[in-house]
Amino acid sequence: MKVAVVGATGMVGEVMLKVLAERDFPITELLLVASERSVGKKLAYKGQEHTIIGLADAVAKKPQIAIFSAGGDTSLEWAPKFAEAGTTVVDNSSAWRMDPTKKLVVPEINADVLTPEDKIIANPNCSTIQLVMALAPLHSKYKMKRVLVSTYQSVSGTGVKAVKQLENEMAGVDGEMAYPYPINRNALPHCDVFLENGYTKEEMKLAREPQKILDDRSFSISATAVRIPTAGGHSESVNVEFENDFELSDVRKILNDTPGVTVQDNPDTNTYPMPIYAHDKDEVFVGRIRRDESQRNSLNMWIVADNLRKGAATNAVQIAEYLVKNKLV
Ligand SMILES: NC(=O)c1ccc[n+]([C@@H]2O[C@H](COP(=O)([O-])OP(=O)(O)OC[C@H]3O[C@@H](n4cnc5c(N)ncnc54)[C@H](OP(=O)(O)O)[C@@H]3O)[C@@H](O)[C@H]2O)c1
Repeated sequence: MKVAVVGATGMVGEVMLKVLAERDFPITELLLVASERSVGKKLAYKGQEHTIIGLADAVAKKPQIAIFSAGGDTSLEWAPKFAEAGTTVVDNSSAWRMDPTKKLVVPEINADVLTPEDKIIANPNCSTIQLVMALAPLHSKYKMKRVLVSTYQSVSGTGVKAVKQLENEMAGVDGEMAYPYPINRNALPHCDVFLENGYTKEEMKLAREPQKILDDRSFSISATAVRIPTAGGHSESVNVEFENDFELSDVRKILNDTPGVTVQDNPDTNTYPMPIYAHDKDEVFVGRIRRDESQRNSLNMWIVADNLRKGAATNAVQIAEYLVKNKLV
């Protein structure tokens, strides 16, 4: 495969290269793409140096697959140009996710919707991916009615600039701000931009994307998304009301038997998921599984994953692997 990684110099791009190498993705030619600011710089892949090229040069080289992590505006402008050249684009931005003509895919859940005609495929939001990985198997068994989720999201979810802001604040150095306020020793109830309904765009992604991935609008989700000063890994406090009752032991077994999900749940040994343990792992970790004693058929749980891996790079590479395996590119 001739593969382009667009946004190769970014937070997600760096992990994308790591994941492609680890999984030994079948690459015959690798095109590393970033903004004009980075053209000519060098990046290594599997010990070999590659020179960063611009988007127009990459389109002209007609890669079979282009994995984009370069922001929504870049995707809106350039993904269609790659698609016209015959490239299949897997896009990490929010640009195409809710477009009814584009598929929104978490491979473990709905890769079977993909066809050779899908030339722009959307990777869901990082917080959405870890949420649906745990919700999907429980929804199949107990049917969800309503989900309430509060997120505790790391600065790496905002990109290089935000990680630098936290590092600067911790070192007592003045520098460029990615957020409107300090993030060190703080919690910002503000992820992505505010919308007219008072929610943030991140909160509405969490509300809408799971319905599209599960192809089911019969349940509703309400979210509060909070940025906290962790370097990597998003956490979520999740309350789910089901139509049908459950046994906690069955819930644990269902989650444990779900590929890509690991249960870490033992109060006796203080075992629960945390960002420092999820770091650099592909699984979604679930713990603090307990009955909500205030409401019928309701469950509380705590979900943690590495936002740069399963929340972004790993999920995108899994989509690309599915395309190759099923001869869709
Ligand atoms: N961080 C996460 O956890 C996460 C998770 C899921 C999805 N995403 C999405 O992935 C994308 C990248 O996020 P990130 O956190 O990696 O951001 P980032 O660290 O700021 O990196 C942005 C990347 O995009 C490139 N880029 C920016 N403008 C460009 C342009 N006009 N043309 C070509 N390349 C351009 C940058 O290249 P230069 O270095 O040359 O500026 C850099 O490689 C975003 O759409 C984000 O929403 C992020």
